[in-house]
Amino acid sequence: MFANEDDFNAAKERVNLLKEDPGNEAKLKMYALFKQATVGTCKASKPGAFDFVGKAKWQAWTNLGSLDQKSARQKYIDMVQQLLDEQGVTVDGSTTAEAQSTEQFKTLNVTSENGVYKIMLNRPNKKNALTFDSYNELVKALDTAGKDPTIVLATITGAGDYYCSGNDLNNFMSATPDTMSDMAKDGGVILNKFVSAFIDFPKPLIGLVNGPAVGVSVTILGLFDVVYSTNKATFVTPFSALGQSPEGCSSYVFPKIMGRAKANEVLLFGRKLTADEACDRGLVASVFPDDKFQKETSRLVDEYAKLPKNSMRLSKNLIRSNDKDLLHKVNDAECELLVERWTSDECVQAIMNFFTQKAKL
Ligand code: COA
Repeated sequence: MFANEDDFNAAKERVNLLKEDPGNEAKLKMYALFKQATVGTCKASKPGAFDFVGKAKWQAWTNLGSLDQKSARQKYIDMVQQLLDEQGVTVDGSTTAEAQSTEQFKTLNVTSENGVYKIMLNRPNKKNALTFDSYNELVKALDTAGKDPTIVLATITGAGDYYCSGNDLNNFMSATPDTMSDMAKDGGVILNKFVSAFIDFPKPLIGLVNGPAVGVSVTILGLFDVVYSTNKATFVTPFSALGQSPEGCSSYVFPKIMGRAKANEVLLFGRKLTADEACDRGLVASVFPDDKFQKETSRLVDEYAKLPKNSMRLSKNLIRSNDKDLLHKVNDAECELLVERWTSDECVQAIMNFFTQKAKL
């Protein structure tokens, strides 16, 4: 079954939805198929030697030989669709990322503009604590940003006064002694997928730490490409106090970027870092006065998004490639230990204490 005239006309219109120039080769092929579909076999005389563009078009059309018009029409329609799919353009002309930004995430606010995919953790009343939904939604958002060809880079920030208060301690509150072990295992799978999404994210990822950061929201920063912070931010990983252990590949990345002793202060003893200290220790690239943070970081991000995107993507992959397999191994080992820790008496008691103390206030 060949497509009819209406399908062909619709494809002709849909070419205008392409977000990016598909390149000369594709454009010549589309031109040739269009001419073949509407005029038939090329009978035009060959353009002169110096008419390079005319000659290339003539050659592409001539190459189609005696392909019949119906087949050419179908091939043209298929080609337009393929290009739209490759560029992540949906039926209504938005990109996958644009379509997703209007989709309701429960815990995130996602927008995309001028090649920047902006993820905002959006549970300000709970200091943006990460529920299981948050982890899954972040994986989905990063997957979209990574695949959508119109997206150059992604940013993550928090809504309200906090960047993120880490793992939502309610995640394990519904567990009973019978279900605890299975819940911990499920939690380990979710965390492993979450951290993997950061290890494998193929484009520049920028952390915009707008306020205090706790736990996993701190450790995962080591997998971002650049982190900017307001001077009001603090960074703390209270794993030991909670009977837990490091995640987000921090057991490997933090000693690498901070040095062993400074990383251990943070990971083993839960030393809270100021923004300047996090900057001195290499976790943060620059610290901005709080009243200038949004404006200054937006300006930088917009500038970065104008740089050649393939070059940035390839350079990032080169930098990441040295450690990628190792990072996945570290992630597996960290998750395995955490699954064990989550069911430990130390951890259960610490979480109970958090909620008991809150109830007393
Ligand atoms: N998990 C679950 N709920 C959390 C949370 C978390 N990680 N962080 C904050 N919340 C909730 C609080 O329970 C509170 O809920 P409520 O309004 O229903 O009582 C709400 O968010 C606001 O937090 P609150 O504690 O009132 O604000 P605060 O400014 O006094 O303290 C924190 C903020 C982040 C210091 C404090 O909430 C805290 O210590 N949270 C736990 C952080 C943590 O240990 N994370 C895990 C790391 S491994």
